[in-house]
Amino acid sequence: MGINVDTPPASSRRQAHWEKSSSIRSRPRRVLRGWSPDEHFYPIARQPIALHALVTAKGHDARQRVLLQSLYKFLNDIAFVETRVVNEVALAIANDRLPWPFPADLRADVLTVLIDEGYHAYVAIDFMEQVRRLTGVDPLTLPPTLAIEQAIANALVKLPAELHPALRTIAVCIAENSVTKELIDVHREEGLNETFHAVNSDHMVDEVRHCLIFADVLRHLWSVLTTDQRRAIGVILPDFLGDYLNLSLQKQFDMKILATIGLSAAEIETVIAATHLEQDLATYRNVNPIVDKVVTFLRNCGVLDDQVIRATFAEKQLI
Ligand SMILES: [Fe+2]
Ligand SMILES: [Fe+2]
Repeated sequence: MGINVDTPPASSRRQAHWEKSSSIRSRPRRVLRGWSPDEHFYPIARQPIALHALVTAKGHDARQRVLLQSLYKFLNDIAFVETRVVNEVALAIANDRLPWPFPADLRADVLTVLIDEGYHAYVAIDFMEQVRRLTGVDPLTLPPTLAIEQAIANALVKLPAELHPALRTIAVCIAENSVTKELIDVHREEGLNETFHAVNSDHMVDEVRHCLIFADVLRHLWSVLTTDQRRAIGVILPDFLGDYLNLSLQKQFDMKILATIGLSAAEIETVIAATHLEQDLATYRNVNPIVDKVVTFLRNCGVLDDQVIRATFAEKQLI
């Protein structure tokens, strides 16, 4: 008997990685020291309404205000999702409060996620407050909920109560494996505020680690569910995905932003019609790689091994 010191278990390797590279351990507070009217606080590439001719016609300042309000929503969404969605599930796993036991090493990994996400919420609110103070611009009334919260609520009513914790957990596994793509997509953009970029890069580093942890969580959970339980959940995942990726909350907020820069109701309608296309998930799949990314993630975790579940995904043109 003896411990092989050459190959530490995955969890202790992850612990060493977390100690070395997690943002809370390795990054300074990101301080916004100055701000020039030329720079913008949110990537234009991620906010299509900022490029619409009716918006650009309102001038440089109007576009800056559109991007500033978009930043506020982005940061507020982060603070919400981390504390209200991800950490709720992480806490249940870490404390072994789910009906299905999780291995101790995975629970220890999830504990690092809890710390990271709490910190991400803190950083988001801290940065929002710094921007608000420096620019003197307050956020508009921000949405009180998130697409993922709505998607979870819609899915829960289709399941028996004993599967609710499983659905919540799987929802977080999916979210944690799609958020990274979102963050990576924020490329360096000419004129994009450097502090925003730093805040975002710090977050991305942590989320790459979370992807792997939540892939293990999903694989484990899926392996301990019965075939009937898997099917009950698996067949509602395409609709869950549709709700999760639904942009109606963003659309409502975008309409609010457009009103503040002085667009008429008819103009707002024109901008929204051009930037928020009404499309189902199968069509959305053609324009946003996030859909295939999530489906591949589910396949890699064994969710599509079952033929009944696979058939539902095929029917919705997701595979
Ligand atoms: Fe996070
Ligand atoms: Fe995360």
